[in-house]
Amino acid sequence: MCGIVGIVGNEPVAEQIVEALRRLEYRGYDSAGVATLENGQLDRRRAEGKLRNLEVKLSQAPLSGVIGIGHTRWATHGKPNETNAHPHATDRLAVVHNGIIENFRELKAFLETKGMRFETETDTEVVAQLVTYEMRQGRPPIEAVAVTLPRLRGAFALGFIFSGEDDLMIGARHGAPLAIGYGDGETYLGSDALALAPLTDEIAYLEDGDWAILRHKSVDIHDENGQLVHRPRHKILSGSFIADKGNYRHFMAKEIHEQPEVVGRTLAHYVNCTAGRVELPIDLPFDFKDLKRISISACGTAYLAGLISKYWFERLARIPVEIDVASEFRYREAPMEPGELALFVSQSGETADTLASLRYASAEGQHVLSVVNVPTSTMARESDVIASTLAGVEVGVASTKAFTCQLTVLLALAIAAGRARGTLSAEDEKTIVDALIGVPGLMSEAIKREHQIEILAREVSKAKDVLYLGRGTSYPLALEGALKLKEISYIHAEGYAAGELKHGPIALIDEAMPVIVIAPHDSVFEKTVSNMQEVAARGGRIILITDEKGALEAGLDTMATIVMPMAHPIVAPIVHAVPIQLLAYHTAVFMGKDVDQPRNLAKSVTVE
Ligand code: F6R
Repeated sequence: MCGIVGIVGNEPVAEQIVEALRRLEYRGYDSAGVATLENGQLDRRRAEGKLRNLEVKLSQAPLSGVIGIGHTRWATHGKPNETNAHPHATDRLAVVHNGIIENFRELKAFLETKGMRFETETDTEVVAQLVTYEMRQGRPPIEAVAVTLPRLRGAFALGFIFSGEDDLMIGARHGAPLAIGYGDGETYLGSDALALAPLTDEIAYLEDGDWAILRHKSVDIHDENGQLVHRPRHKILSGSFIADKGNYRHFMAKEIHEQPEVVGRTLAHYVNCTAGRVELPIDLPFDFKDLKRISISACGTAYLAGLISKYWFERLARIPVEIDVASEFRYREAPMEPGELALFVSQSGETADTLASLRYASAEGQHVLSVVNVPTSTMARESDVIASTLAGVEVGVASTKAFTCQLTVLLALAIAAGRARGTLSAEDEKTIVDALIGVPGLMSEAIKREHQIEILAREVSKAKDVLYLGRGTSYPLALEGALKLKEISYIHAEGYAAGELKHGPIALIDEAMPVIVIAPHDSVFEKTVSNMQEVAARGGRIILITDEKGALEAGLDTMATIVMPMAHPIVAPIVHAVPIQLLAYHTAVFMGKDVDQPRNLAKSVTVE
């Protein structure tokens, strides 16, 4: 995750931009840079490392432009050096970028055939060159950006300024957040309200697909179809930034929508996008190849993330995995052979049962690895090593972005384990890593099904009971779907392995109980379709969550089919988490429930 700031100002802006970047440094500090325009001339300063290095450069060679963009970087593509630092520039423009351009390789190849030359290893430079190429074809800057944006795949936010254009900045949002600030004869662009706080108290959040044309006295916002749209302006109060809901009614909605960005950031931390391989940002005090088994413990949603990872570790690394809910594990007196790996998953890092299990495993001589979101938590402190989920603060009690970030980290660990044990070839690793890099973009696509899901939620809200079914990694996801739904809507919901249906729960099937089936087109798809036939034959009403191929091949009547974009089967659970979260959310909202603070629950469960 990187930080973006832009100012269309009336006085030299470099200092203000650096000040705003300081507030964004929490988003990345591999390098930083500023570009400004003075009398139509573009100039930039960039520096590797923390912002203070950039400040030194600026003090030696100041920039005096009155319109400018700045960036603080968390490296995804290319080393964190000055060459790869943003803003990237050509003779025509400068651009800053947050997120990942997935199809940068194919765009780069296209541009190279057109004679465009590249200086860096970054995906961002491809955007700079593509817009420049369009301008060389005679398009004015706004048109050049407008034709470029639909060609970019992935989750990203962008900010542009152009040579010779002293009253123009363009910002674009596609899966990564971007806000517009309104001042007195000045306008601003920023990754979040926090960045813009010292500059203005009036902001508007761009929605996904929006792009905005900023001038000193006006901001025109277009949606992804190019239509001019109005986005409401908000007054921001100082001190309210950390717990800022943005344009959303609830934190849970904001956190669901943030996922393309936060998952992108997390995976950028664990994979080398350019090389297509996992590079763990931690030193493990053990070698995966020496392990005979992994024991996982966690609670609730974190446990279900662990359960999905059992499939990954066993399939990709051929390591047997035992998994327990921590409240059981801690009292089970499980025998553990010293020197094995105990893995704990927790958003808060404070959950009492998980912590007690961690202490038990530690006393049993296990290597303790925790996948946690709060790096200062007790579990983080008491573990031998932590793998941070980097999801940012999660305020909604129902876990959403922490879950998908946990999955991202666990998959990276399973891939690293597979490589270390020689069970995953470099080629297969690259295929899965490439699929993982595509996940933020697919999550953005998945979010576009929100309107359909919102309408469906009205039907679901009438039910007293709901059954979720799935096979393979869709089975733990079915459990998560049921958990999410029951905890915020209070509708009784159960998750089952689809193959277990006929061993009992099939007795429950009637027209009153929706049966939600998660079935991407994977190796067990046909088996799940057979289970759906069994439900349909008994008059059950099916809501099918599948992908494009699955929707074509399912061949049976459903109450609704939610069609996800195609994803590699290994990463599918991360993408398919989105519709189950949205369904729970909209059902609860429709029923008037307190979505962010459901009854009887707490964010951090520090009691048994
Ligand atoms: C459900 C949820 C809980 C938590 C569980 C563990 O949406 O949030 O089930 O997952 O209480 O909490 P952490 O991850 O903090 O250990």
